[in-house]
Amino acid sequence: MKPIARPDREIHGDGVSRLCCGDAAATLARWHSAHDGVQMAYMDPPFMSGGAYQFRQRIGVEGWRGHRELVRSRIAYIDRWPGGPEQYLSMMEQAVALTRELLREDGCLFLHVDWRSAGDLRVMLDRVFGRRAFVNEIIWAYESGGRTTTHFSRKHDTIFLYRKGKSFFFDPSAIGTARGPQRRNHMRRGVDDDGRVYYAINSGEREYRYYEDEPVYPGDVWTDISHLQQRDPERTGFETQKPVALLQRMLLATTREDDWVCDPFAGSGTTAAAAASLGRRVLTADASPLSVHQTRRRLAAAGSGFTVELDGMPSDTDAELSAQSSPTDGGLRVMLHSFRVPGGERYSTPSLLPWEDTLVDYWSAGRLLDGEYTVHSFDMRSVSHPALDGSLTIAHGPGVPAVHIVCALGGEYWYEAERYTGE
Ligand SMILES: C[S@@+](CC[C@H](N)C(=O)[O-])C[C@H]1O[C@@H](n2cnc3c(N)ncnc32)[C@H](O)[C@@H]1O
Repeated sequence: MKPIARPDREIHGDGVSRLCCGDAAATLARWHSAHDGVQMAYMDPPFMSGGAYQFRQRIGVEGWRGHRELVRSRIAYIDRWPGGPEQYLSMMEQAVALTRELLREDGCLFLHVDWRSAGDLRVMLDRVFGRRAFVNEIIWAYESGGRTTTHFSRKHDTIFLYRKGKSFFFDPSAIGTARGPQRRNHMRRGVDDDGRVYYAINSGEREYRYYEDEPVYPGDVWTDISHLQQRDPERTGFETQKPVALLQRMLLATTREDDWVCDPFAGSGTTAAAAASLGRRVLTADASPLSVHQTRRRLAAAGSGFTVELDGMPSDTDAELSAQSSPTDGGLRVMLHSFRVPGGERYSTPSLLPWEDTLVDYWSAGRLLDGEYTVHSFDMRSVSHPALDGSLTIAHGPGVPAVHIVCALGGEYWYEAERYTGE
């Protein structure tokens, strides 16, 4: 197949949500002219830790089945600031100020931090949003990670919540959970005439009843959402990935269906995945193409419509692709024969199917017209689907038939799907 230049945009379904590769501030400035209002923004930026964070890429069928030798660690991002805290804080202040401008008047921002950056960022948030715009300091406490004997173990992150205007959209009814049957020591259990169980306490002349089936709303200390375990099915391989449940709680409380949500430090795409699960539309960006691809995978898996702005994404030509397309009733069928990249031999395994190509992490087929590539079908590996199907279809329509391959080593490749003539 003939390599072609990377298109400008890649469109899945209705193409509504947007994924961009680039610096948060630059992307936020770009969104500013194109969007009239984001209801909620979530930011989980680097924490000024000085660390380098890994992505564990599973390679081929065996890698996706958990074979350790076929899991390759790549750097996902580096959290080092040669210009010191000033450089970090100036980057964050710019991103926060631009995000605030994007918000609707009744919108809000959640900024996720830890002990390293919490103090400085709270002061910065007060400066950008105003002290009166502070709503909550949420403590997300978890048990994962080791324990130290030199000080109290650090077992929480902090999530600051600020509103843009005088009031903000907040729907506690969306995040309430049934009180349940926990007995409270100082209360007595009772059953009313309708058979509803309650716990009661008397104070002065009055009896206060708390019904088991009534909702309780979370406070600002969250202990009921655990960090992802190593083997959690939600895990993408991204070291600082947050749980979908954490984002779902924030989204449910502060947005409605179809609202816009934004995350300029997308990482593995947790905000996008949570937004898709709740019918919200999302704008995400990340400086790393690896993150944009993980977000692409998660939105595609959710069957969500989205557009990837491809500038800043890799465009490679060093692979040898052998594939063939042949006409079918509805259009074209593209069959993958082999895909080889330099240095890829060491990942090949004896158990491959004849057409199986270890290094293809994800591929799609579609049509390219005026710089826009519309995806007609795609396939990607996952724990439940480690082997690719080997063929995709392209429907009849305007534009050039094309194939997009994302290599497990990070490259992205574009080809024109030449029609096989049978000669
Ligand atoms: C802590 S991770 C986000 C994790 C994410 N919430 C998740 O659940 O997977 C921070 C992300 O910020 C990205 N990043 C760092 N500096 C950036 C910048 N200036 N602009 C955009 N993204 C940046 C990194 O590439 C990394 O993916």
